[in-house]
Amino acid sequence: MQIFLAFSLTILLLLFLLSMIWPPDSPWSPWWRTSGRIARIMCKLAKINDKDLIYDLGSGDGEALRTAARLGARGVGVEIDPARVLISKLWIKLSGNSENIEIRRSNFFDVDLSDATVIFAYLVPKTLARLKPKFLKELKPGTRIVTFVYKIDLPLIAEDTKNEVYVFEIPKK
Ligand SMILES: C[S@@+](CC[C@H](N)C(=O)[O-])C[C@H]1O[C@@H](n2cnc3c(N)ncnc32)[C@H](O)[C@@H]1O
Repeated sequence: MQIFLAFSLTILLLLFLLSMIWPPDSPWSPWWRTSGRIARIMCKLAKINDKDLIYDLGSGDGEALRTAARLGARGVGVEIDPARVLISKLWIKLSGNSENIEIRRSNFFDVDLSDATVIFAYLVPKTLARLKPKFLKELKPGTRIVTFVYKIDLPLIAEDTKNEVYVFEIPKK
């Protein structure tokens, strides 16, 4: 029993260490996360309000959605990594935002985004470029797309270059 426990803990530790160097567009991407400070900047720049429904693509530990929920917005987090799904659900429960935030364990390429008013996407350029046709097909004109560090090839409507936060908008058809 003790050997099994030690073995399992070693595997978990190795997976955790591996996740820190893995490419960020994979399910085993690093624990690159949005801090509370950056999440507040994202919400301010995108003018998040209580009418918004935000989809966070690759929602990680749910920090950005928890920050947005404090402004009254509703959120759907789509996360492929089961460990992060579990952790984010726990944080959301502890922060008392369970009513406003739903976390789905899924691949965001398979999720219908048509009812979103805002998309949060802290993802690498390659993944953002792959998402662009899906955004143009499913999202309503005027939907804001908030990115951190990386940009997407869509009309830019606001930016905070110092903090590398960008807001794009789906153009009229
Ligand atoms: C750079 S991290 C950002 C995490 C979080 N949004 C934040 O800002 O703290 C990217 C996240 O996307 C997730 N991810 C990558 N590809 C995905 C996919 N196809 N579907 C769902 N989640 C995905 C990863 O597991 C990881 O949690």
